[in-house]
Amino acid sequence: MAVNRPKPLVAGNWKMNGLKAAAKELALLVKAVAGAKSKPRCDIMICPPATILSLCAETARGSGIKLGGQDCHTEISGAHTGDISAEMLKNAGARACIVGHSERRTDHGESNSEVKRKAEAAHRAGLMAIVCLGETAAERSLGKTIKIVGQQLKASLPEGADHKNCVIAYEPVWAIGTGKTPTVADIAKVHGYIRKRLIALLGDETGMKIKILYGGSVKASNAKELMGISNVNGALVGGASLKAKDFLGIIAAY
Ligand code: 13P
Repeated sequence: MAVNRPKPLVAGNWKMNGLKAAAKELALLVKAVAGAKSKPRCDIMICPPATILSLCAETARGSGIKLGGQDCHTEISGAHTGDISAEMLKNAGARACIVGHSERRTDHGESNSEVKRKAEAAHRAGLMAIVCLGETAAERSLGKTIKIVGQQLKASLPEGADHKNCVIAYEPVWAIGTGKTPTVADIAKVHGYIRKRLIALLGDETGMKIKILYGGSVKASNAKELMGISNVNGALVGGASLKAKDFLGIIAAY
């Protein structure tokens, strides 16, 4: 398959990390991007905890750095104690929302159909959905990676998905926070398969344009190699997005 290069996206998922003081790291990122000799060659996003989304939106205002939520409820509003709607995230300054992260699938038992409804809720609110997929270590050892990723993609992809409202993130569960990454050949195989399925499901044009991010132990030292793989259109970064210096090292891979 031809090498496909939509403008890359490097997104930081802060997960359940960050009190108000963490906005200082975002301020450092804003300063570094503004002070750089040339514009970054990728789009940059930070997905902080919802409690500091508004503060981060203020901090990033005018910088071009976009913000995202980490999860949303399927409904607009109502009796859902502790939950947050996509509309609330949008109102707080988000432009996107991660859905179906493996930590949500594991900790909260989220199914593919729920992930799909969450992605559709994100669209209803005008947010881009970052739909996460990935196999567990057990599934991988049974040789089921492609099968699992294919099933998750088909069943989690929202109606009306296109390159403006949807990004796919392939995050092998066993690579998250472990320092382990798949081989270049393995990532190329899975991303190539996701691309092929996107084309089959959404047609040539849309299927080619949707970004496919890789996530799982991305850091400055491996970013260049990982981001150079065919059909890898950016990264979803956990631990290495918490400090501006580390995250800037990944952005510099472009
Ligand atoms: P790490 O980069 O910490 O492995 O986390 C990846 C991830 O889960 C991003 O969503």
